[in-house]
Amino acid sequence: MREALGGKAFVRAEGTGRSVKPGRGWGETRGVDSGGMSITELGRTGGSSVLDGGIEPAVRAQGLVKAFGEHRAVDGIDLEVRPGEIFGVLGPNGAGKTTTLRMLATLLKIDAGRAEIFGVDVAGNPHVIRQLVGVTGQYASVDEHLTARENLWLFSRLQGIAAPRARRIATELLGQFGLEEAADKPIAQFSGGMRRRLDLAASLITRPPLIFLDEPTTGLDPRTRGQMWDTIRGLVADGCTLLLTTQYLDEADQLADRVAVIDHGRKVAEGTPDELKTAVGNSTLQLLLAEPDEVPVAAEVVRRVLGSEPVLSPEQGRLNVPLDQADLAADVLIALRTAGVSISSVSVAKPSLDEVFLALTGHETDASGKDGGNGTEESR
Ligand SMILES: Nc1ncnc2c1ncn2[C@@H]1O[C@H](COP(=O)(O)OP(=O)(O)O)[C@@H](O)[C@H]1O
Ligand SMILES: [Mg+2]
Repeated sequence: MREALGGKAFVRAEGTGRSVKPGRGWGETRGVDSGGMSITELGRTGGSSVLDGGIEPAVRAQGLVKAFGEHRAVDGIDLEVRPGEIFGVLGPNGAGKTTTLRMLATLLKIDAGRAEIFGVDVAGNPHVIRQLVGVTGQYASVDEHLTARENLWLFSRLQGIAAPRARRIATELLGQFGLEEAADKPIAQFSGGMRRRLDLAASLITRPPLIFLDEPTTGLDPRTRGQMWDTIRGLVADGCTLLLTTQYLDEADQLADRVAVIDHGRKVAEGTPDELKTAVGNSTLQLLLAEPDEVPVAAEVVRRVLGSEPVLSPEQGRLNVPLDQADLAADVLIALRTAGVSISSVSVAKPSLDEVFLALTGHETDASGKDGGNGTEESR
């Protein structure tokens, strides 16, 4: 995407000294050969394709395949992302998430199947696609020795934007992402969260209507993750469509309007987070007994009332009871009291997406702490 490295690219950016009104566009749209409609219009008007004048999905992929040697990293994935939504691709490490995004972004050849972005065929129109899609990596792909401002300015110049406008864009993005104070420090001094924000800022330079976020919060601490979530929600409020990958189930739950769960290169489920949860488990009654010794008695009561097995937790005195209907919880609680089992805490919850994943794939995710890395961090 940044092949246009000019001979004078490594020039230091100066402060502009100008105030920039925050806003959606950069004031002008770049001329792109997409049939007379600017790229910005193409995305933000809900994806009316220039090719047929209809409303097109932001992403439509059918039967996508990518093989590395014998190994099909992506093995026939269909996706449809609607304009204006946050679509989550959820799956464990190695599921094929990054490979899918890279194919959609023209960074990897599509081996089989086809994909369109706002109705534009990906394989046939790489230049148009690159204007439509902003890509962020799992790791901030910015130059350590330059400051945040210099990085943004440089990336703008690499995209062919004239110097004064590049300065303006850098200043505006630094403001939008809360990086003003650190703007003139080298990236080497940045925290993980600041790097991610800068990386995201860099992907917005061309104001693409569709943004790919590849594991935007992997490795960040909880507070920084929360900030990133707010930033991501802000992008959608601003009119963008987001396709994000995550191996964090809570992240998909918090952010995504719809989720595709993928495993070993295949889609195993799709729906809203609530639909996925409901499809699997309806509700779970979570009980903590006052006397841990009474777990066997409580389990017997559950079997008698519901005819199903409670799930015993390794935590002392805790058991979870899957329920077909939430109101069966009352029957269980009454029976427990009748049996003299005393309860110190009780809640009825939707199953977590962890439970959903386990039910769908028969194995757990490794979201809880493996390296979160990924074998495909090549040049962008
Ligand atoms: N360039 C590559 N060469 C060989 N194998 C690859 C390459 N990129 C990814 N893979 C393999 O494809 C599978 C999916 O990888 P990836 O898309 O990075 O998964 P995810 O992003 O879901 O963690 C993994 O088994 C990975 O090792
Ligand atoms: Mg990945």
